[in-house]
Amino acid sequence: MKTDTIATAPIEGQAPGTSGLRKKTRVFMQPGYLENFVQSVFNAIGGAADKTFVVGGDGRYFNKPAIQTILKMAAANGAARAIVGRGGLLSTPAASNLIRQRGTDGGLILSASHNPGGLDEDFGIKFNTANGGPAPEGVTDCIVTETKRIERYSIVDATDLDLGLIGEQQLGGMVVEVVDPVADYAALMQTLFDFDKIRALFASGFTLRFDAMHAITGPYAKAILVNTLGADPASVMNAVPREDFGGGHPDPNPTWAKDLMGLVMTDLGPDFGAASDGDGDRNMILGRNCYVSPSDSLAVLTANAHLAPGYADGLAGVARSMPTSLACDRVAEAMGIAHFETPTGWKFFGNLLDAGRATICGEESFGTGSDHVREKDGLWAVLLWLNILAERRQSVAEILSDHWKTYGRNYYSRHDYEAIPKDKADALMAGLRDKLSDLKGQGFAGQIVTGADEFSYHDPVDGSTSARQGVRLFFEGGARAVFRLSGTGTEGATLRMYLERLETDPDNLFLDTQAALAPIRDAAKEACDIGLTGRDAPDVVT
Ligand code: G1P
Ligand code: ZN
Repeated sequence: MKTDTIATAPIEGQAPGTSGLRKKTRVFMQPGYLENFVQSVFNAIGGAADKTFVVGGDGRYFNKPAIQTILKMAAANGAARAIVGRGGLLSTPAASNLIRQRGTDGGLILSASHNPGGLDEDFGIKFNTANGGPAPEGVTDCIVTETKRIERYSIVDATDLDLGLIGEQQLGGMVVEVVDPVADYAALMQTLFDFDKIRALFASGFTLRFDAMHAITGPYAKAILVNTLGADPASVMNAVPREDFGGGHPDPNPTWAKDLMGLVMTDLGPDFGAASDGDGDRNMILGRNCYVSPSDSLAVLTANAHLAPGYADGLAGVARSMPTSLACDRVAEAMGIAHFETPTGWKFFGNLLDAGRATICGEESFGTGSDHVREKDGLWAVLLWLNILAERRQSVAEILSDHWKTYGRNYYSRHDYEAIPKDKADALMAGLRDKLSDLKGQGFAGQIVTGADEFSYHDPVDGSTSARQGVRLFFEGGARAVFRLSGTGTEGATLRMYLERLETDPDNLFLDTQAALAPIRDAAKEACDIGLTGRDAPDVVT
């Protein structure tokens, strides 16, 4: 029944250090391509024999056939058991939870996150280790090494399984256990949050709009927000997962969640609005006519998490990625808890969470989470906000303005220049690096640089160093601009420019964000010589 097949279709282009492989769907569909990556994962972790893996994805085009292939390969490689979400569906945080809760050896998660899905769009796969988190660099580097020397892969010759049936089936020598994708995750949420209080909030007439963007969180949001907590059924929109996400871009930000923004950002909007992405790990938070930036959301959650039962004993610390605003640091300092600054990417939080040094983490890119799993978690952030709102009984806008009055406001925005030719993007970054040591004291668009460096992270838990994680310019008055190239794009290069300015004057806490940051934006553009990209304005502003 087991067949050894000669490996074809080399896997080019996986950047060393990335936690998975993300490519155009057609690339993944080449004969042997997915197979080579999966076999390389098994080879890199010392084989699959007698191991248990969680397998699931966000339901995008090619999810189903890919899962059948992975299961047949796991069986051929001697795995003991595979735990699969019904229909091949699992949100990324739910997969992380299953990997941990069931004491497995890891999992294969199929998704290209917030990138569009479909035959002509994106697909992806990543391996998470037994702690439930994205494989650390040591493991991903081994996977890359294996992809370069792979000669054959193993697969059993069997008909496809029916993954719509909950229960156990046999595939060669391996047991395939199909589970409800929502049940264990919903049970975990119930341990963290005061569901009775949130139920009472909805019963009091509190209104919600949650946009699942035709992606994985639809079934989760229906089960938890509507069926368990009593939100109006109509409050979950785009709730049915589709292989092409309804032709949309399942990225919960003001640009791509336009319909939701239109519904919530008015004085007639619901009390609370939120959206999640393709695989359910990102979140955007809104109140009636009130946008909460991800960096502010992280800071508010840090300041208020103790209001939820799962965090009632307080937080060990908070961690943010370097480009994320310093708003949560100010909260941590006031609360006397630790704060950490890590490189971009969720995997860097894993060690801090495992070591119990950080409880809550977040990134400016609409990612927030805690030590309950080892991925960011969109619905978790929504539920923590709801728990806080249920306790404080104030509007989102009131909570945010209280927060700024207490801690000051870190005006913050990210400007993305997308799909620029790679050589031009590299030239811009090289130019910045070359002049780093000369920038101090120079003025750009009237802003004086007080310091400049490239962020290098020294992991306080395992002692490892991750260098070249983004160029930082600090300006007089405490403002900051950060430049880095995206590691997740699939077309050309994306330059991300992150702008931030702290404001503590009570009279200036309610300015328009872009207007408040305009002087820093102009200085940043001049300092990096934005003309090198052939562009003058960003494609996406968040
Ligand atoms: C982007 C985000 C980053 C996030 C990653 C995965 O990476 O900026 O914060 O961890 O997606 O969701 P980037 O494209 O910037 O490398
Ligand atoms: Zn995602």
